[in-house]
Amino acid sequence: MKLTSNSEDLAKDLQDLVNLFFKESEEPFEIFHEEKIKNNEVTNKFIISGEKQGEYVKSFELESRRTDLHKKSLRKRRSKVQLYDILSSITGKKLPWGSLTGIRPCKFARDLVDRGEIKDHLITETLVNEYKLSMDKAKLVFQTLKNQKCIIRNDNLVDLYINIPICPTRCSYCSFISSEYKSVQNLIDTYIDCVIKELNAVKELVKEKAYIIRTIYIGGGTPTVLSAEQLERLLKEILYQPTEFTVECGRPDTITREKLEVLKKYGVTRISINPQTFCEATLKRIGRQHSNKDVLEAYSLALEYDFDINMDIIAGLPLEKFGIFKRTISRLLELYPQNITVHTLSVKNSAILKNEQETLEDKDVPKMVEYSLNELRKNGYEPYYIYRQKHQLGGLENVGYARDKRFCIFNIDSMEDISSIIAVGANGISKRIYNYENKIEREQNCKFIQDYINRIDEMIEKKFKLFS
Ligand SMILES: C[S@@+](CC[C@H](N)C(=O)[O-])C[C@H]1O[C@@H](n2cnc3c(N)ncnc32)[C@H](O)[C@@H]1O
Ligand code: SF4
Repeated sequence: MKLTSNSEDLAKDLQDLVNLFFKESEEPFEIFHEEKIKNNEVTNKFIISGEKQGEYVKSFELESRRTDLHKKSLRKRRSKVQLYDILSSITGKKLPWGSLTGIRPCKFARDLVDRGEIKDHLITETLVNEYKLSMDKAKLVFQTLKNQKCIIRNDNLVDLYINIPICPTRCSYCSFISSEYKSVQNLIDTYIDCVIKELNAVKELVKEKAYIIRTIYIGGGTPTVLSAEQLERLLKEILYQPTEFTVECGRPDTITREKLEVLKKYGVTRISINPQTFCEATLKRIGRQHSNKDVLEAYSLALEYDFDINMDIIAGLPLEKFGIFKRTISRLLELYPQNITVHTLSVKNSAILKNEQETLEDKDVPKMVEYSLNELRKNGYEPYYIYRQKHQLGGLENVGYARDKRFCIFNIDSMEDISSIIAVGANGISKRIYNYENKIEREQNCKFIQDYINRIDEMIEKKFKLFS
């Protein structure tokens, strides 16, 4: 459903909120929004046309002592709450995340505390009363923030991310930029050469700036789609000693003893082996070419090497009902990995699944997500990072859980914008965080492997510019 606004600052956020209330196919009415600002008073007029037509005018004051940037953020937040109240009353719906549309709910709450707008102990009440979150989600934010307190902010601590955007095959739900192995097979060795070239440039940068690499994360895609030799060629160029070193193996069918040996030899401390579901019929349906047996074999192999293990699952996969999801949770708990990440299915336009909408049903999904939180908690897991994506079923979220405080620092850093990230490889997005100036700058490498290879020198130059 379309929202038209006279405010460039607000239009996108308001439209995002509207999209959370209505499915694409539903077009019962249109909304026109007009914002007027006089002195420090903001007046929003929302005109709803169609079946539920009406005109709503609401105002609020901006404190004059605030900076322009802060006033802009307040206008967005307050205007969204006003629209939320209107849409909620005309549809009778309440959204789990209330008026929040951003992808980082914890960062949202932390910023409120850092700017002195609320006190730490009032986070839950504020999120419920002022931003309309459900009590459950507000408590989830509060608890997650508590678990993030262990992370130190220091502009000299940086994370290194290496992207391997290649997968054995494409999963039907996925919209990540990643190429199928067979389509880039001939480019892989040159790609590794370029990644090594970029890593060597990063070495100089790290030395020059006296940075300390706190964590390393090799993600994708599916990094273990590379052969053991290719992995070794890459890993032997990484000479840092981070406190945490993750390789997102992901697809169990790419994991072999030889590859795990290489990971161990070069200091990897954490890997992920992702079942997504323990229902074999779903695995086939979503195009994952592995079985439960593959997951179990990869898992017991990895246990021999003493890695911390993360396992990803997705709530809301096609044709999965609550009972199937419940079984996935109990299988996971039998395995008892250090980390479990529970995603909620998000269906973006670029996913194959977009054309199979009839297999999707979001009725059971809130129950699944709530069940996972309760069951994992009962078994000693605590939430330590949260993020939301566009088009997630039920407007829900992804939550990373850890037992025994084995939180993945990289995940917290990257979601909460705590440390700078030097990203290497195609589609790597580097972020420079200025903790004390409250500023972030970003630079993105070319998205696709062939372009990245062609323009490697430019990638290196841009990186130096960002960090110098
Ligand atoms: C960057 S992907 C890479 C993981 C790895 N390639 C794999 O598939 O095992 C990280 C995780 O995001 C989740 N994910 C990917 N696409 C998703 C989608 N459309 N909706 C919800 N979660 C998704 C999956 O759980 C996946 O394991
Ligand atoms: S879910 Fe993982 S393996 Fe599947 S296509 Fe996406 S990145 Fe690749």
